[in-house]
Amino acid sequence: ARLLVLHGPNLNLLGLREPEVYGRLTLSEINQRLQQRAASEDATVETFQSNHEGGLIDRVHQAKAENIDFIVINPAGLTHTSVALRDALVGVDIPFIEVHLSNIHRREAFRHQSFLSSQALGVICGLGWHSYLFALEFALDQLKPT
Ligand code: DQA
Repeated sequence: ARLLVLHGPNLNLLGLREPEVYGRLTLSEINQRLQQRAASEDATVETFQSNHEGGLIDRVHQAKAENIDFIVINPAGLTHTSVALRDALVGVDIPFIEVHLSNIHRREAFRHQSFLSSQALGVICGLGWHSYLFALEFALDQLKPT
């Protein structure tokens, strides 16, 4: 199975950026932990971060060509703004889980709305880096050969 984990704008700053909100792990530490988890199941996890909406959209399109089975995405600030990223995910028709480190529902009102959630298989937020881990766990379970 092939999984893709996408990280949106500013997540390259993890570890430094508001650690009380987003945790102390860096993005590469999170990616490493996800890759370790997947390695024990015969699955590969590719990771990609971009500060650019178009970069993320291009990566989603590429995922189709690469036969990626499942996407875990933290769209970051684009969650609340990007019709185009939503359309890309719907367009490639690859199942995805939306994740957030923080609980967006207990934060500012502008973070309560997501353009992606209604198209996602599920949404996990508020559990720090574990939001990604539990999404990955679900994807691995779904993709297990029967
Ligand atoms: C975030 C929440 C978003 O509202 C915010 O813009 C982010 C990160 C999270 O992981 O908690 O950049 O997606």
